[in-house]
Amino acid sequence: MDRDSVEPQVEKLPGERARKQVADHHETAAPSTYVYEFVWDHTAPAAGPFCTDVDGNVLMDFTAHVGAAPLGYDNPTLRERLDEFDLTDPTKIAGQDFYAASGPPGDAPIPGPADLMDRLVDVSDHYGMDTVFLSNSGAEAVENAIKISYDHTAGKYAITFEGAFHGRTLGALSLNRSKEVYRRRFPEISAVHDVPFCTDRTCDPGSCGCGFFVEDGSRLRRMLGPGGYVNPEEVAYVIVEPVQGEGGYRFPSDAFVAELAAVVDDHDLLLVADEIQSGMGRTGTFWASDHYPFDPDVIAAAKALRVGATIASEDVFPDAESRLSSTWGAGDLLACAQGAITIDVIREQGLTGNARERGRQFRETFDGGSAVTDVRGKGLMLAVEFDTKTRRDDVMDAAFARGLLTLGCGRKTLRVLPPLDVTEREIDLGASLLGAAVDAAS
Ligand SMILES: Cc1ncc(COP(=O)(O)O)c(C=O)c1O
Repeated sequence: MDRDSVEPQVEKLPGERARKQVADHHETAAPSTYVYEFVWDHTAPAAGPFCTDVDGNVLMDFTAHVGAAPLGYDNPTLRERLDEFDLTDPTKIAGQDFYAASGPPGDAPIPGPADLMDRLVDVSDHYGMDTVFLSNSGAEAVENAIKISYDHTAGKYAITFEGAFHGRTLGALSLNRSKEVYRRRFPEISAVHDVPFCTDRTCDPGSCGCGFFVEDGSRLRRMLGPGGYVNPEEVAYVIVEPVQGEGGYRFPSDAFVAELAAVVDDHDLLLVADEIQSGMGRTGTFWASDHYPFDPDVIAAAKALRVGATIASEDVFPDAESRLSSTWGAGDLLACAQGAITIDVIREQGLTGNARERGRQFRETFDGGSAVTDVRGKGLMLAVEFDTKTRRDDVMDAAFARGLLTLGCGRKTLRVLPPLDVTEREIDLGASLLGAAVDAAS
C-alpha cells in the first residue's frame, strides 16, 4: 500500500465477512459490549490511517482506535524497532512489581517497565513528577490515582465535573457524570461532589452559560468557601479531564481553567488530571494539561500508552509495601515496549507539532455547512458538532459508506482522531470525505 496515494475503496460496507465476524464475536461477547461494523484484516496492507478490512475494502481510519493507536497502522518506526528485538518470549510478563524484566533504563535489550517509567517521568517532570505506578487500563490508572490521593491527603471528599468520564471500575465510575448507564445500580464511593464543566470554550464569568461561574466567583469556589458545604481541608482530590472525551469533546475556556487553577491553589487541593484520552501528544502538547495554567499533582494515562500509568511525585505515593500492586502491571514486554517506543516516536518525529499543524488545517478546511454548529479541537483531538443527534448519526453512517471511520461522543458530536503523523494530503482527503458525508446526510 502506497501511503502517499492510497484512497478509500469501498465495495460494500459492512461486507459479508465483516457481518459474519461481528455476529460470531457477539456469540460469546458480553451483550453490553459493542464492536464497530468494520473488521480490519491484520494480514492485509495498511499504512498510517489506511487499512484493509476482511472484505477487501480500503478504509481511512480517523478514530485511531479511540486514541489507543496514536501512530496509526503499521507504523514503520514502531515495526522496525520491534523487529530489532531478539525475544525469547515476547509475551513474557513485563513484571514491574515482582520481577525486573529488563535492565536499567537505556541498557535493556528491549525497553521494559524501567524504560517506560523513565520516559513517563521525562515528559512529566515539569510538574515535579518523578514516580510511576504501571497498570493495564485507563480505569486502573484512575483507580490508583484516587487511591494514592485518598491516602496522601487523608481527605474524604472528591470533586468531579458534570460530563466527566473516568472509567468503569467501581471507584472510577463513581466519578462519572456523563451517561447514567455507567453508574446505574452500581455501588459507589461516597462523598463525591460535582460542579459544572465549561461548555463554551469562549466563555468568561460574564457570558458563562454552563452554571460554573456565579456572581461571587464560581460554584467550585462557593462550595469550598466560607458558608460552603465542603470543608476544603477534607477534600482528597479534584479530578478533571483537561478536555472532556466521552462527555462530548468539551474544551474548557481560558476563564474556566484559570478559575480552577486559582481555587486549587488557594485551598492547596490535590489535582488529578485524567489524560487517558487527551494525553500522549493528542492535543498538540504531550499532556493536554500543558495548555493550561494548572499543574496537576497526579496524571492518569493509558490508551495510547498501551498500558495504564499513574504518575506523581514520590511523596504522593504510599510507602507501605503492597499498598499498590498488579500482577500484570505494565502488561507484557511487547505492550510495555510499544508504550516506550510510542513516546520515542512522538518526541523524535515532532508529532506534537504535526498534531497542531494538521489540526489547524482540518479546522480551517472542513466545511460542513449549516448542519454543523461547531468545529473545535486542540491538535488532533477534533470534534464536529451537529444540530441534532440524528444528523450526527446519519453523517457517521454516510462517512462509513465512503470508507471513513469516525466516532461519536456526547449527544450530537462526532470525534475526528487521525493518527498523530497524519499528512496534509490525508487531512484534505478526510475533510472532503466528511464534507461529502454531511451533504449526503442532509
Ligand atoms: C478520560 C478517560 N478516562 C478513563 C477511561 C477508561 O479507560 P479504559 O477503557 O482503558 O479503562 C477512558 C476510556 O475511554 C477515558 O476516555
